[in-house]
Amino acid sequence: MAKNKTMFFCKECGYETAKWLGQCPGCKLWDTFVEEPVVKKSSGSISKIRVSREPELISQIKAEREERFLCGIEELDRVLGGGIVSSSLVLVGGDPGIGKSTLLLQMCREIVNKHRKVLYISGEESLQQIKMRAERLGVFNGELLLLCETNLDLIEDTINKHKPDLVVIDSIQTMFKDEISSAPGSVGQVREATGTLMRIAKGIGVTIFIIGHVTKEGVVAGPRVLEHMVDTVLYFEGENHASYRVLRAVKNRFGSTNEIGVFEMCGNGLVEVKNPSEFMLKGRPEGEPGSVVAASIEGTRPLLVEVQALVCRTNFNMPRRTAAGTDYNRVNLLMAVLEKRLGIQLSDCDAYVNVAGGMRITEPALDLAILTAILSSYRNRPLSDKTILFGEVGLTGEIRAVNMAEQRVLEAAKMGFDLCIMPQANKEHMKTQGGIKQIGVRNIQEVMDLLMR
Ligand code: TYD
Ligand code: MG
Repeated sequence: MAKNKTMFFCKECGYETAKWLGQCPGCKLWDTFVEEPVVKKSSGSISKIRVSREPELISQIKAEREERFLCGIEELDRVLGGGIVSSSLVLVGGDPGIGKSTLLLQMCREIVNKHRKVLYISGEESLQQIKMRAERLGVFNGELLLLCETNLDLIEDTINKHKPDLVVIDSIQTMFKDEISSAPGSVGQVREATGTLMRIAKGIGVTIFIIGHVTKEGVVAGPRVLEHMVDTVLYFEGENHASYRVLRAVKNRFGSTNEIGVFEMCGNGLVEVKNPSEFMLKGRPEGEPGSVVAASIEGTRPLLVEVQALVCRTNFNMPRRTAAGTDYNRVNLLMAVLEKRLGIQLSDCDAYVNVAGGMRITEPALDLAILTAILSSYRNRPLSDKTILFGEVGLTGEIRAVNMAEQRVLEAAKMGFDLCIMPQANKEHMKTQGGIKQIGVRNIQEVMDLLMR
């Protein structure tokens, strides 16, 4: 009898090899290989692509617009690129407990209230638990079917029988197919389960949302294994200590990937945050050195954030530097620019930089705010709390133009700021006054002369 064959799979990216390897050649992570039985491919073709033998002219091909429907939660619709695409497969990933089930149950509520049929399949909670959660979330009027099941063959039968418009699978790590011997949550099971769901979605034209837990360690295969199989990947993130949550698209076959949706977790579920700038600036200290406000852009939306810096004399041989919510190397680079171009002695100072509110922002337009916050803390000189900044800082201390300057200025004006300091190159091309005073700067010397006089 033939021996049962096993292979080694990377838990992170799904890379396959016959032998165990210490480092994955695919994702370059260490110690991620697990041994699992090999699965015979039986699902067949899962794509709906029409195969043509002859190449065709692009001008001859008729493009069909994908069919979409709005789910009614504006933040979610925007992240999806303008509503849910029919027969698409969407993965919603995130840490356990972040609110994925809550978000999707709320989405189901909005959709059934619009007279569509939804099937919510949970492998994690009992029907009573889901019902209890639903009661906290509000009234469900329409046809929401609940099912507790983990066997995918039975799930397929149920979908075929009830023909819902939308299915939610909570979560992919609990689902299994009988013919695969490895445990639910293993790379083989997760991959095969997603393949099956893809076939169902494209085959009978139902939209499927899959929930996947992201775990850094442990036996559960991370949703990274599935990212290339699904149409859209959304990540639901947030800080443990903060109540707000950010929904981010990291892959979207039907839209842009840099949109975010902001929610707040409240007693009765997730509430959309329509004005994230106001949310981020809540509780900002006024007239304190080291606190400045930056106009940043997330996706297509402007977002105002507070950047804080604390610079103090060090007690160590090696000064301590930390950066929370932004890039550590960038902060070091900006401090080096300050030392070299303005002659400010920072090598015997500790520096702590923090983007308040727990948001992580790495766009270069934040440079000017980080630099000014460091300068303000070092000099112990506060900025006017109605001042806002944006701009990229180059290695020679020049302030470089950034994109979407108009939106940044308009958002600042809307939030009641009265002075905006920006790259001169942006100011020259500014089409809008926005009712806010604008000052263009060319290099960091000008910034210093302007603010630290
Ligand atoms: P949940 O949706 O179960 O997370 P996930 O499916 O991502 O694991 O959310 C769990 C957390 O959300 C839980 O810690 C409690 C909190 N929560 C609220 O604060 N308010 C609510 O109305 C609900 C339903 C949950
Ligand atoms: Mg859950």
